[in-house]
Amino acid sequence: MAIIFNEEKKTISLHTKNTTYQMKIGNLDYVNHLYYGPKMMDADLSYMIMQYDRGFSGNPYDSLKERTFSLDAQPQEYSTLQQGDFRTSSIEVINADGSYSFNGRYKSHKITEGKYDLETLPAAFAAEGEQADTLELVLEDAISGVEVHLIYGVFEEKDVITRAAKIVNNSEGDIHVKKIMSATIDFMNGANMDLFHLPGRYGQERQAERSAITHQINTICSGRGSSSHQQNPFIAVCDKDATEDAGNVYAMALMYSGNFLAEVELDQYDQLRMQMGINSKNFDYLLKSGETFEGPEVLMTFTNEGFTKMSHIYHDFFRNNLNKSRFMHEARPILINTWEAAFMDFDDKKLVEIAKAAKKMGVEMLVMDDGWFGKRDDDNSGLGDWFVNENKIKCGLNELVKQINDLDMKFGIWFEPEMVSEDSDLYRAHPDWVMEIPGRKAVRSRNQLALDMSRKEVQDYLIESVNKILDNANIAYMKWDINRSVTDIWSNALAADRQGEVYHRHILGLYRVMDGIIKTHPDILFEGCSGGGGRYDAAMMCYYPQYWVSDNTKPIDNLKLHYGTSFLYPVTSMGAHVSDASPFVPFETKAVVAMCGTFGYELDATHLSDEVVEACAKKSALYKKYFPLILEGDYYRLTNPFALSNFTAWESVSKDKKDALVSVVITNLTVNGPQEYLRLKGLDAATMYEVTGENVSLTLSGAALMYAGLPIPREVPDFSSMQFEIKAM
Ligand code: DGJ
Repeated sequence: MAIIFNEEKKTISLHTKNTTYQMKIGNLDYVNHLYYGPKMMDADLSYMIMQYDRGFSGNPYDSLKERTFSLDAQPQEYSTLQQGDFRTSSIEVINADGSYSFNGRYKSHKITEGKYDLETLPAAFAAEGEQADTLELVLEDAISGVEVHLIYGVFEEKDVITRAAKIVNNSEGDIHVKKIMSATIDFMNGANMDLFHLPGRYGQERQAERSAITHQINTICSGRGSSSHQQNPFIAVCDKDATEDAGNVYAMALMYSGNFLAEVELDQYDQLRMQMGINSKNFDYLLKSGETFEGPEVLMTFTNEGFTKMSHIYHDFFRNNLNKSRFMHEARPILINTWEAAFMDFDDKKLVEIAKAAKKMGVEMLVMDDGWFGKRDDDNSGLGDWFVNENKIKCGLNELVKQINDLDMKFGIWFEPEMVSEDSDLYRAHPDWVMEIPGRKAVRSRNQLALDMSRKEVQDYLIESVNKILDNANIAYMKWDINRSVTDIWSNALAADRQGEVYHRHILGLYRVMDGIIKTHPDILFEGCSGGGGRYDAAMMCYYPQYWVSDNTKPIDNLKLHYGTSFLYPVTSMGAHVSDASPFVPFETKAVVAMCGTFGYELDATHLSDEVVEACAKKSALYKKYFPLILEGDYYRLTNPFALSNFTAWESVSKDKKDALVSVVITNLTVNGPQEYLRLKGLDAATMYEVTGENVSLTLSGAALMYAGLPIPREVPDFSSMQFEIKAM
C-alpha cells in the first residue's frame, strides 16, 4: 500500500516510486502539510514545523494563551477561511447564516485500494494491472457542519498523485460555494523559486515562460469559459537553478476545460502556497443542505531531475491513464485537411480531386473541414445546422465517403457543436438556447453565439444531430472545434440566484455531450481543436488522442509551439501539418517539423509540383516508419527555440534505449561562425550506435553522442533540416 497512516505520529504519507508526500493531523486537529519531495520511507517530518509569536498573525481561540500557534504561519493541507490565515485561501463559502467562515479540522480519513472516480468530471484511471490507491481525508467545520473531502489518488509507479476536493453541505441551510481549490501545497520555505507556465494567444499558444516568484499572489487563470489560448491549466514551481536535466520541479495540471485558477503566493515569511482549481471569478454555486459539490482533479508530480523528467512523467501518464481510446497506442492515419486548401469554397468534386492528388503524397485520410453543412458559405451562418449542404456535397455524404474509401483512403469530418449562428435554423427555432443575458445583446465573436451547454435539451440535440451524421456514413475521424470564448453567461433554464453556476454547468454539459458522442464511437479517431490550440488541457486529453496545436502552420513558429506544448503534453497528441505557409522554408523541413507530432497536410494538393509531391511522399513514408518510436518513446528537447541559437533540435528515444531519432532545423546560421555540436540525451553510454543521416554514417558510443555530441554541418542553407537515425548495434 502506497498510503501509510502512522497512528502514533498522526502522519499520513503517500509514497510513489521516487517521491513522498506527507501530512499530519497537528495542533487542534488542523491538518498540516509536512513534505513533498524525494522518497523517505520511514520519516516523520513533524519536526519541520516551527512556532513563533508572529505579530498580526492571529491565534485560534482554543489555542488559549498560546500565541505561537497561528494558521498564518503554518503549512496547511487545505486552508481555512477567516481563521487567521491571511494567505490566498483554498476555499470560500458563505454559510447559511451569511458568515464567510470555514474552520476545517480533521474529522476522519479512509484509505482504500484502487483509484477513486469522480461523478461529474473526467478523472484519471489506473491502467490495466496497475496499482493505485486512494485516500479520502475529511475536514469539518463543527459549527456550520460544512465538510471538505480531500481526495488523493496515488499512482506509485508513475510518480503521480492526483487530488480533488468535494464540499459537502451538512449544515441545515443552503450555502454558497465561492471558491474551491482542488489542491493546495504549502511549502514551508519557498524563497528563490521560479514559476514556469504556458501563456499564449491565438496563433501562438503555449509559449513557455519562466519568471522569479516574488512576494505577491502570482495568478494564472482563464475566465473565457474555456481553458483558453491565453493560459494553460498547468504550472510548475522549480528551484532557481533547475534545468532540463536537474533540479526540483513541482507541477500541477488541472483536468478541467473551463475557467481555472492557479495561484502561487510567496508570503511575508517566505512561505509559498501553490494551488489550483476552478476560477472563482463569476462563480457562485448554491449548495443546498445535504448536497455535494465536486471540483476537478489536479495531476501533481514532483521530480528532482529537472523539466525533462517532469515531462516524461506526464507524457507516460497522459498516454496510459487518461484516455481509453484504442488510438492512443495506434498509428494515426496521415491526413490532409481541407481548411487551408479550400476554406469553405469546395464541393464534392473538389474534395475527391484533393484526395486523389494527396494519395500520391502518402496521405491516408481526407478531412472535410468547416463548410459542409447547413447554409455555410462563410463564417456568418449555418453553425448548429448539422445536416449536409447538398448544394456542395451534391452526391450526398455517403456517396462522397464511398468515393474517398474507393481510393483506399479514410474519411474525416469537422464539427463545431457548441456554437450557433444567428442565421441558422437552430437559432431561429431556439433563440433561448444561447448564452445571452435577458434585455442585453450578447457579444459576437466570429459572428457566432455560444450555446448554453448547461441545458439538457441542448445537450440532447447535439448528441443526436452529430451522432446521426457519424452513424450514417463511414466516418473514421472527427475534428471537434470551438471558435470563440464564452461571454454573456446566462442560462434561461436557471433561476436568477443560480447564474453563478452557469460557467461550471456549461462545462459539465460539454463533458456529457462529449461522452455521448466520443465515448459511444470507439472506432472513430477524435481530434480536438479550438481555433487552433485553445482549450488544449488535461481533461480534453481524456477524450481526444490528438489536438490541433495551432492555426499557425508556419514551421519556424511551430518549433516554439511544439517546444512549449511538449512540457506537459505527449508529442503525439499534437496535430502538426505541412502547409503552404512560409514558402521560403523547404517542404522537407516543414515535414520534419510536422513529424514532431501527428503528421498531416493542410494545403491544396492539386497544385503541387511533381518534385514536392515526391518529397512529401518520402517524408510520409519516414513518418510511418518512425511513428511507433515517436508515439511510445521518450521525448527530449535538445535546444530551446526561445534562446538565441542557430538551430532547434529534439529527439525521441525508445524506452529500451536502442533506437532514437534526432531532428534538427537550421533557423539562422551565422556567417563564418563556430562549429557546433549537438549533445544527445537518453542513450546508454556504454552501447555502440550506428548513426545515419543524409551524407552521415558513423559508429559512435552513447557516451560520445551524449557527452561530446554530433557535429552540426555548417555549410547548409538557412531553414534546411536533418534527421539522424540512431540504432544500437
Ligand atoms: C479553426 C480551426 O483551428 C481551423 O483549423 C479550421 O477548422 C477553422 N476553425 C474552421 O472554421
